Amino acid sequence: MDVAELLARRHCVKAFDAERKIPEETMAKLREALRLSASSVNTQPWHVVVAAGAAGKERMARAASGPYAYNAPKILAASHVVALCARRDLDSAALEAVLAQEGRDGRFPRPGDAERQRASRESYVALHRDELQDLPHWMGKQVYLQLGTLLLAAAALEVDACPMEGFDPDVLSRELGLEAKGLRPVVMVALGYRSAEDWNAALPKSRLSAETVFTFLD
Ligand SMILES: Cc1cc2nc3c(=O)[nH]c(=O)nc-3n(C[C@H](O)[C@H](O)[C@H](O)COP(=O)(O)O)c2cc1C
Repeated sequence: MDVAELLARRHCVKAFDAERKIPEETMAKLREALRLSASSVNTQPWHVVVAAGAAGKERMARAASGPYAYNAPKILAASHVVALCARRDLDSAALEAVLAQEGRDGRFPRPGDAERQRASRESYVALHRDELQDLPHWMGKQVYLQLGTLLLAAAALEVDACPMEGFDPDVLSRELGLEAKGLRPVVMVALGYRSAEDWNAALPKSRLSAETVFTFLD
């Protein structure tokens, strides 16, 4: 399907069919989309917690209480729920792990390639850590790229999704022991198939006009 059609067709699902599960081969493709997402200087400062069963989804739904209670039914009825997390720090061990993986993947065919890549990545990390002092925010932005990749992949695979910022990150962090793992939850995504109660399915998509969104230069 044409990518514009795909994006026009997808929507944020407000009610999931609790009886329908995403087949494992489709979930494997969605996990691969998450893993293959782009990130600045390939830092990949993320980790994804996947809940497929009732117990895991109940733990995740505990973070959707108080003002976020409206998201709990989606979490509980969805086939799968993913919590996209950012690293709390990008220390040298994390950067060296990425560099080593790039080496194994054949990214350094010429002498000095690895050292150049290390220096380039370290300079960006230093920029965000020391000069801009927005390292956690910068890592969170990479996680949002993962979110965009996941939403497009889900649409392509005819899986419905609801991205959710509406949850208490401290509760989720405690529930999943994320802080001890050096992680911070950024956004959750409920994945599955819409139910007849999904009121958003019947509403037209609304976006600002192309004139508002774009400026064209010659
Ligand atoms: C980062 C992000 C967080 C969102 N958080 C929630 C949420 O907590 N609950 C919810 O029902 N929808 C949530 N949404 C859905 C948006 O409201 C929805 O994507 C937007 O209105 C555009 O509509 P569409 O996705 O149906 O095209 C979120 C979307 C994004 C991208």
